[in-house]
Amino acid sequence: MVAYPREFMDELIARSDIVSVISRYVSLTRRGSGNLGLCPFHNEKTPSFSVSSDKQFFHCFGCGVGGDVISFVMKIENLDFPDAVAKLADWAGMEVPQSTYGENDRNRRKRAQEACRDAARFFHERFKADEGKEAREYLLGRGLSPSTITRFGLGYSPDTWSSLLDELVAKGYTKTELLEAGLVTTGKTGKIYDRFRGRAMFPIIDVRGTVIGFGGRIMGDGEPKYLNSPESEVFNKRKNLYALNLAKSSRADFMILAEGYMDVIALHQAGFDSAVASLGTSLTEEQAHLISKYKSRVIISYDSDKAGRAATERAIDILKKTGIDVRVLVMQGAKDPDEYIKKFGRDKFAKLLENALPSAEYRLSMVRDTFDLSDDKQRVGYIKSAVSQLARMSSAIEREIYAGRIATETNVTRDAILQEAERERKRLLREKKREEEKKILDPVAAIMPKEKEARYKNPRSAVAEEGLVTICCGDVKLTLKTSEKISGGMFSSELLGRVFDVMTERARSGLDTDMSAFTEVFGENEVSHIATVFARNADKSADAIDDYITIIQQENMKGAAAESDDAILAAAEFYRKKKGIRNG
Ligand code: UTP
Ligand code: MN
Repeated sequence: MVAYPREFMDELIARSDIVSVISRYVSLTRRGSGNLGLCPFHNEKTPSFSVSSDKQFFHCFGCGVGGDVISFVMKIENLDFPDAVAKLADWAGMEVPQSTYGENDRNRRKRAQEACRDAARFFHERFKADEGKEAREYLLGRGLSPSTITRFGLGYSPDTWSSLLDELVAKGYTKTELLEAGLVTTGKTGKIYDRFRGRAMFPIIDVRGTVIGFGGRIMGDGEPKYLNSPESEVFNKRKNLYALNLAKSSRADFMILAEGYMDVIALHQAGFDSAVASLGTSLTEEQAHLISKYKSRVIISYDSDKAGRAATERAIDILKKTGIDVRVLVMQGAKDPDEYIKKFGRDKFAKLLENALPSAEYRLSMVRDTFDLSDDKQRVGYIKSAVSQLARMSSAIEREIYAGRIATETNVTRDAILQEAERERKRLLREKKREEEKKILDPVAAIMPKEKEARYKNPRSAVAEEGLVTICCGDVKLTLKTSEKISGGMFSSELLGRVFDVMTERARSGLDTDMSAFTEVFGENEVSHIATVFARNADKSADAIDDYITIIQQENMKGAAAESDDAILAAAEFYRKKKGIRNG
């Protein structure tokens, strides 16, 4: 993690009140001791997003996101830590100090980005030179025009071991920098060589126009078809979309989401300049959030094969959470948009876009395709599946409309279908409620962190630890008093122990003990878990603190006793083995 000078961070945090920062994005209303608003990270109609001014954290009871002021800015703006700090500093009217570790990290990242940009130039030059003939023929042969090739900065990586390496070293880059940029690889003997060799090169550019990585396509047969830059500090697949830098300024009011590089490029060439691709992985929540930042509608245009349909299902769920209008383009006679446009032309594709189905309708049509409606038995099967789709639609209007369609298709009255759907809906709601009740009745399950690393080993102690850190958070005096009796080392949860130690340290330096400085010290998942802990313990009273301390001490003693028991057993075992005695 990046370290900025203490005084700078302390002042930045003091000046960046979480309520005012979040109010830039979310309209909050005061509710008791907290503030409530509509969650900007998922779609909701009743507010479950709460922001605490005392403890300086946010948490959504609906979708579970949470954190401090810095992690909020990181999430909502899709920034990394240094950039979020820079943004907050700007709002607070402060200068980010120069020449710190943080600056070094920034410089390292910048160097890697510069190396990527220079590599893109190099690949593009090689493409135009004699040796790029095969790549030129390949891409032109696939129907790309010279101006499209320039627009996307496509290139060629020579089929040698070190032409890029030599070029960039001559330009002054170190081998470490090139490794960090993902442009070279280390072989078994420790020798460094070019990662991309003999491939058609597709630079990946982030939304700000920075080259962050590459996809390289093999031009004949062979594996892998596309070789991509490795994940790194510069290249984060999960947080980027191919061609978003171009698509974000398209005048279309929707974004087209495709699977591959070539699909996106073919779409742009045909005039559909709002196409992006999720870089070959299944769509992530970060990417969905990015899309929803720029457009209010997305048309999924994945491959028409089975894998593409499965990816579409997943993408619908993820995109819907952001509240964006999700449609699905249905394509026949071609496997992907690139092939479709080549076969049938741009106008036909424009028609497909126009006829893209709302996601609910798409799902119903998928169900319908698996049944033969002229057969009575199958018709019943269809109605059952369709009803279960209806039951999952949250809007009553949608349910009515689609029930009407199913009625016409199957010759069953609309009312009967709606009734069935209503029954199914109630059943689903009951099931959900039961699950939640089970959680409440089982306190251990209720508090268990989702992340494996953070699982509580001693739930009795963990409950007390959660209560204790929550009460102390935001209360300097109480933190100081408590820290005289107990320290984080006695906690059963390593994470909560660290939380308490961080607060103690801050209290002793005369600083607030609220959550605002946590992103500096804790990882992303940790910060989010801590916010959940604070949120669910918000009603705990300071009177309980002595009980909590006692429980933690008791459990800690037990733990220590168990450990010494283990030590005795281990010693006995050792002795037994040494003497050659088996089992007593
Ligand atoms: P596809 O296999 O559908 O390729 O993978 P494509 O885009 O249609 O490519 P062409 O038309 O054969 O050239 C879709 C996307 O999945 C990623 C790439 O981003 C690709 O565009 N992918 C695929 C890889 O990263 N590596 C691979 O080996 C294959
Ligand atoms: Mn293709």
